[in-house]
Amino acid sequence: MSDAGLDVRGLQTVLSTGGGPVPVISDISFTLRPGETLCLVGESGSGKSMTALSIVRLLPAAARVNAGEILLGDIDLARLPDSGMRSVRGRRVAMVFQDSMTSLNPLLTIGRQLTEGMELHLGLSPAVARERAVALLAQVGVPAARERVEQYPHQLSGGLRQRAAIAIALSAEPEILIADEPTTALDVTTQAQILELLAREQQRRGMGLLLITHDVGVVARMATTVGVMYAGRIVEKAPSDMLFRDPRHPYTRGLLKSVPRMDTDLTAPLTSIPGTPPAIANLPEGCSFNPRCPSRFDRCLTERPPLIERKAGHPVACHLEDA
Ligand SMILES: Nc1ncnc2c1ncn2[C@@H]1O[C@H](COP(=O)(O)OP(=O)(O)OP(=O)(O)O)[C@@H](O)[C@H]1O
Ligand code: SF4
Ligand SMILES: [Mg+2]
Repeated sequence: MSDAGLDVRGLQTVLSTGGGPVPVISDISFTLRPGETLCLVGESGSGKSMTALSIVRLLPAAARVNAGEILLGDIDLARLPDSGMRSVRGRRVAMVFQDSMTSLNPLLTIGRQLTEGMELHLGLSPAVARERAVALLAQVGVPAARERVEQYPHQLSGGLRQRAAIAIALSAEPEILIADEPTTALDVTTQAQILELLAREQQRRGMGLLLITHDVGVVARMATTVGVMYAGRIVEKAPSDMLFRDPRHPYTRGLLKSVPRMDTDLTAPLTSIPGTPPAIANLPEGCSFNPRCPSRFDRCLTERPPLIERKAGHPVACHLEDA
């Protein structure tokens, strides 16, 4: 196990468009230490998946990493040749995709996809790997795991495929797991079971988890640190307890307010952030959040607030912090 974790610095990814390259994520920096969970949260289109796909270099054809470092120990993944990246992916850094079909190879049985990494990277014999594969499938809540290992992805329902994708990602015991909305499509019992399994893997062997989720309940349960994304940037980052206790950015406050609590009157409409996120190719001047911000003032319309760590461990990008 590496004791270095993942250190992302100043990551920018651009998308080629008719009007030239447009940044989809900019200045993304975070550290994920072994055994920790960093949750990335934010509305649809804020750049969470683009951040994940940039790290494992599985971006759509029109997108490319344009700047920054992605340090895994002393290797910079942003500068690794494709061949080197192929040997890191799956073994040291594994990913569960938002769409489970993307994670799976349609031509191989679930069993083969599980045992491949165990044989190759952990040096297990085919027989031992197969038993581990059955056990791992059972752990992610796949019933009749012994029969399921013989099946191909198309023979599984969406929910079972997602669980199989999680098992496959864990099979080679990666140092870092990047999981993009891994449990969103699953029922609450299975979701709880999978989150527990991920937490166990973290404790057992110090796996770092980069978890992308819309679910603030999942964040509260899993996160060591939270990064809040808006319009392709991290606008606030803090240890989880600090973020829930003292959210600083108006967008974070809006996000947390949109979540029903135990004492919420469920017959009342959910408070949500008014308006919609801006198109990435057409960001407003100044602070990207200004058209929707209840606290905006003159400076917000012309000057983009940099992410500044005024309080240790809690950087925020908002002019109100200077007030
Ligand atoms: N394949 C693609 N081709 C072109 N643009 C894309 C592609 N995928 C995403 N984008 C754009 O990149 C930006 C960031 O998208 P991204 O998928 O990272 O958002 P997200 O935060 O993961 O959203 P969601 O919560 O909906 O998954 C958006 O403006 C989106 O329209
Ligand atoms: S910088 Fe201004 S517009 Fe942006 S979040 Fe802060 S107060 Fe709102
Ligand atoms: Mg996404």
